[in-house]
Amino acid sequence: MFDIEKFDIKLDTNQMGRNFIYAEEVTSTNEILLNDKDLKQHGTVLLAENQTEGKGRLNRQWLSARDMNLTFSILILEAKLFGKKINILNFAIAVAVAMSIENLFQLRAELKWPNDVMIANKKIAGILLESVSSGNKVERLVIGIGLNVNQTTFQGKFNFEPTSIKREQHQNIEREKLLAEILNNFEELVEISVSKPKFILDEWRSRCRLIGERITVSENDQTRRGIFEDINDEGFLILKSENKLETIHFGDVSIS
Ligand code: BTN
Repeated sequence: MFDIEKFDIKLDTNQMGRNFIYAEEVTSTNEILLNDKDLKQHGTVLLAENQTEGKGRLNRQWLSARDMNLTFSILILEAKLFGKKINILNFAIAVAVAMSIENLFQLRAELKWPNDVMIANKKIAGILLESVSSGNKVERLVIGIGLNVNQTTFQGKFNFEPTSIKREQHQNIEREKLLAEILNNFEELVEISVSKPKFILDEWRSRCRLIGERITVSENDQTRRGIFEDINDEGFLILKSENKLETIHFGDVSIS
């Protein structure tokens, strides 16, 4: 059982998580925040103990054991964070999750493009950004995070071997403190992202081991190979192959 009071004591934000909704079970926390137009407060966080239709990137499923992990979404409504800045938010949340794991558990977190959080080459968290637009104007943006905390066995077929904080630390982890730490860090990074997006990109780069390496990027049946040159200012991956540079918008990256 998630102790909301314990979480609240550790939460040190003005906006993120100030409207906090806790649910035993939902279809998908992203789905609810995207579609429930009665939810109008920027920074609203919905945490669910179980998702019956948890979504991953590229139309995959996100499976997470009930009561064990952190599966939650954050509602972003401030227009100044939309437009080209959206990908920066994508990196800001990945950096916030990585920093929180590093600070609380002294584990080395690495980031994998576009936004997976890895520990010792295993995936500990995934992030899914989704938005609702009217015309070409984004109206609501939802950032969904699935972070494996106390789950120790994983069933299914995975692109990257999963792990959790408990698997790496061999002890039960207090989810309340961890969620508050993530939201505290995220709010700070969001503020910085408006005036200094480069700071966020550099924090992300410093945790990405694959920059400079030979990689394979796959999307559906298509694979591309080359050197992971860098990420650009909008957060897209720059792949260098046969001396030409290509900008990659989607896909899964692995070392070749
Ligand atoms: C990925 O790595 O493919 C992204 C996974 C994102 C999962 C989270 S769990 C909370 C939120 N609600 C969802 O349905 N998905 C995201």
